[in-house]
Amino acid sequence: MRDVVIHIQRGGTSVVFECSQSAAPAVVHWGGAIDLTDERDLDFAAASALPSVGHSSFDAPRRVSLLASRDDGWAGAAGFSAEVDGHRLVGFRTVAAKAEEHRAIFTLRDPSDAAEVVIDCRLTDGGLLLVLTSVENVSSHGCITISALRTLLPLPARASEVLSLTGRWSLERQPQRINLGFGRLQRGGLRGRPGHDSPLVFSAGTESFGWEGGEIWGVHIGWSGSAEHIVERLPEGAGAHRAMLGGGVILDEEPIEVAPGQRYLAPAAHFVYSDSGLNGVADAFHSYVRASQSAGRRPRPVILNTWEASYFDLDVESLRDLADQAAELGVERFVIDDGWFLHRRSSDAGLGDWYVDESVWHGQLPALAEHIRLRGMEFGLWFEPEMVNPDSDLARTHPDWILGGDVRRRTWRGQQPLDLSIAAVRDHLVDRISALVTELGIAYIKWDHNREVVLPLDDTRRWAGHAQTEGLYDVLRRITARHPGLEIESCASGGARIDLGMLPYVERFWTSDTNDPLERQTIQRWTGLLVPPEMLGSHVGPDVAHTTQRATSLEFRLITAFFGHTGIEWDIRELDDAARQRVKEWISEHKRLRSLLHGGRAVVADLDNGQSLHGVVSEEADHALFAWVRESSAVASTAERIRFPGLDPRRRYRMRRLFSDAAVRGPVDTQPPWFVPIETGGCVDVSGAVLTKLGVPLPLLHPASAIVLELVALPEPG
Ligand code: GLA
Repeated sequence: MRDVVIHIQRGGTSVVFECSQSAAPAVVHWGGAIDLTDERDLDFAAASALPSVGHSSFDAPRRVSLLASRDDGWAGAAGFSAEVDGHRLVGFRTVAAKAEEHRAIFTLRDPSDAAEVVIDCRLTDGGLLLVLTSVENVSSHGCITISALRTLLPLPARASEVLSLTGRWSLERQPQRINLGFGRLQRGGLRGRPGHDSPLVFSAGTESFGWEGGEIWGVHIGWSGSAEHIVERLPEGAGAHRAMLGGGVILDEEPIEVAPGQRYLAPAAHFVYSDSGLNGVADAFHSYVRASQSAGRRPRPVILNTWEASYFDLDVESLRDLADQAAELGVERFVIDDGWFLHRRSSDAGLGDWYVDESVWHGQLPALAEHIRLRGMEFGLWFEPEMVNPDSDLARTHPDWILGGDVRRRTWRGQQPLDLSIAAVRDHLVDRISALVTELGIAYIKWDHNREVVLPLDDTRRWAGHAQTEGLYDVLRRITARHPGLEIESCASGGARIDLGMLPYVERFWTSDTNDPLERQTIQRWTGLLVPPEMLGSHVGPDVAHTTQRATSLEFRLITAFFGHTGIEWDIRELDDAARQRVKEWISEHKRLRSLLHGGRAVVADLDNGQSLHGVVSEEADHALFAWVRESSAVASTAERIRFPGLDPRRRYRMRRLFSDAAVRGPVDTQPPWFVPIETGGCVDVSGAVLTKLGVPLPLLHPASAIVLELVALPEPG
């Protein structure tokens, strides 16, 4: 193989690799699309990736490769660290480099020919860079032990601020920002799931980057177990770059063992570059996620989930009544949550006993499922397959199936994990769930995971954390293969398992256990950085939110749940006529606008002071919906000009308010004069230039309220 420079470009992103046969390939550039059609420019781009040699340094310029190993002189968290038979695997050289239009594949070998590493880099049409790394043991003896496998890409110095998300149960996705100083920022938890505090998209960007502007380099590791995201900046830099960004599975305590003839494929690392702020980051993730979901996609059915309506108090008559009323409102999928199976009268017992509890159903569950279908709705059911209550038939019959370690002693919500590294456990789950899917005609599974798995040890006290996540994928793969058309929602005490490792198996993520619309505004906005609206579960709850005890208006709750895969989680039998009518209209509006809501480009405006403007804009920018939201009271006493992101400045739009004829209320005597016709049910024609560049004063609203505006482009004159 000769030394080559490879440039791949797509969706506004360029990646340039410099590939020398005597070393592992290095990324020369990952960022905005550049024109490097002239070979000389390409070569110069590669040559200029080498920095000066500092005092007290190696004698040759430092070059940090895609392996970011000690070999490169990289003193930070290693990209790759492994050994075989006690000998370190170092000195990798590139034996093959294959360039396709949007893809570069590198094959590396160590000098002892024990390991073959393949790094497959693909740019998707939205500009997302997918990096898949595999390590094959090509020796005839000895296991390869991999103690670090992080995909790390270089960042320029101007990526000076880091944004990541954190949170807790019922308050996921809270943003936090810091300046990127020298040192390592590492976010990850050994939770056996990404966690409520998952960084989701770990982003570094130019100073003050926001939703609408700034350059951003972001990474997301597609792994549903314990993963970490990392950014590290050392004084000596990383070649001519300043820092490294990436992540991988946490291997510190649980290395990967690769036996001769075996190959380990690391979870995909997803890298996104945007020069148009976080909206650009979301664009790249959404188009990637949508492309992967495109087969067989159909309109997302409006859901009613029974959890906050009934909790564990299930009975056929009430549910039939609830189902009838749901159908009447226009609901399309009726999901019975926890509490339906054997011994499950509270969270203390029954997990694992996946049999219909006839003490609850008296033989009527199949008939209820049929009743739901006859009312035009799909039937869905809740499962938590990976877990078991000690007080269950399963735990009593198969105590050996429970994952060991202290997780065995320390219950969490009264439950313990099953050991999914055991084939019999996986087979049992596949068979049991499959049988119920067939018997009951289940169209949808809410797949929950309500505890962390912090110490995943098997019976012999060996680590089984990776096997636990692989086991989950195996079970999901087999169930979805057996039941084409079955849809699955990934839930983990709300949003603790939202990651792209789940993407091949699920159609929806349960965003959070809180249905408080005020908390939801923030949670949904930030979950939307990764997850497109049609996969983001969003339900209307009762007047007083069960999780916060906050009372909010029906209108605010409806508007908040409108922008997602919407549903109801509320005992709708308590609705008065006016509320019932309102919910009905809301569902029918949702259906009318569903293709826009679930196929458009999601945008968020850069605003603070307790207000937000977010929306969806069609691909041609000829149709848009925006929610103008007031979260907390404004200090300013008059309305200010607000600019609408995502619209086409060359078009004219007709703007009207959706749903409500009630006056827009806020702490003012009158709302801005231009808005008055809209407020009273009319519409106004405004140019896209005014909306996007100048902005218009939007009404000042009371806290915890919102309005929705629909914009339709007017036909072009002539
Ligand atoms: C978790 C889920 C909830 C609900 C309960 C049932 O907390 O996040 O939505 O399904 O379990 O026990």
